[in-house]
Amino acid sequence: MILSFSSCKKEVKEEKTEPETDNLIVVGFSQLGAESDWRAANTESMKSVFTEKNGYRLIFDDAQQKQANQITSVRNFIQQEVDYIVIAPVTEKGWDTVLKEAKDANIPVIIVDRRVDVSDESLFTCWVGSDFELEGKKMAEWLYRFTAEHDIAPEDVHIANIQGTIGATAQIGRTNGLRWAVEEYGFDLLAEVPGEFTKARGYEAMESLLADYPDINVVYCENDNEAFGAIEACEAVGRIVGTDIQNGEIMILSFDGVKEEALTDVLEGKIACIGECNPLHGPRVESLIARLEADQSISKYTYVDEEIFSADESIESLLIDNTVYNVIRLTPEYVEERMELFNVGSYTNTNQSQDAY
Ligand code: AHR
Repeated sequence: MILSFSSCKKEVKEEKTEPETDNLIVVGFSQLGAESDWRAANTESMKSVFTEKNGYRLIFDDAQQKQANQITSVRNFIQQEVDYIVIAPVTEKGWDTVLKEAKDANIPVIIVDRRVDVSDESLFTCWVGSDFELEGKKMAEWLYRFTAEHDIAPEDVHIANIQGTIGATAQIGRTNGLRWAVEEYGFDLLAEVPGEFTKARGYEAMESLLADYPDINVVYCENDNEAFGAIEACEAVGRIVGTDIQNGEIMILSFDGVKEEALTDVLEGKIACIGECNPLHGPRVESLIARLEADQSISKYTYVDEEIFSADESIESLLIDNTVYNVIRLTPEYVEERMELFNVGSYTNTNQSQDAY
């Protein structure tokens, strides 16, 4: 009697839970790694949206900066017959074969943040992320305007670029943005060295740059973590970071603006300018999936609108390719407001360009 009662009870329990689980949309997300504060915020944004409460089951995989790991996880997602595959690709090239496998399995693939460089664009459904070259151009234009304002000739602006992961869209775009200004204005680009988007590599790169280029006065870091390392390396040898480059200071420029420390560094004058890179893609990817589920149209490419921040008051706006971009003057109040955005659980603003859907 007791036995049959308990097995009957179990059945009832299973009946109650199974249909709920069956209805979940299964999303396999291959995250490239955990190299930066930006990446941590990005992962958190995805995890906070793809929850059972919201109707999803998320299979998350951290590829630890290796494309081979990402390819393996995509193959695992295909085997598990997930409903959607989302990839934040570490670098652009080398995706054709595995994306063809996903296409053959009829699984839509959404690319997020960085891009893939494939011969056939039908291999993925859509992409959402930043315009990294525009970020770079805005930063380089800000530098040009700032130095012109202070009567510093472009040939006296001796720049080193600490690049991100070579071959990643964020690196390619930001590097191209700076190269464009070097060509356009005649800045002295001393060196381009890899920094892998990490503080440790930023520190190492800066140590060597200081030894190799005594006249260096501007460091263009392709993310904030590299900037943290570069600042520490400068201060370790007694160099002052700041905007007074005519009097020996080293100007640090950077991208992201996700961690409070970076924005505080701007307020304190350690980082002259930060080009925003917005990591809160979870709600954006979720809204793409919701539209696909509802058979609604989506754009192939969705760009996120981004700001540029400085504590300097002299440059109010920048003109790039016939578009005006305001420079946000950073204040303690603004920093506080911005930090609230990174309480990602409550973040709902999916600010993005009009061509979105
Ligand atoms: O692809 C976005 C870039 O990757 C961010 O700027 C950087 O911090 C991250 O690691």
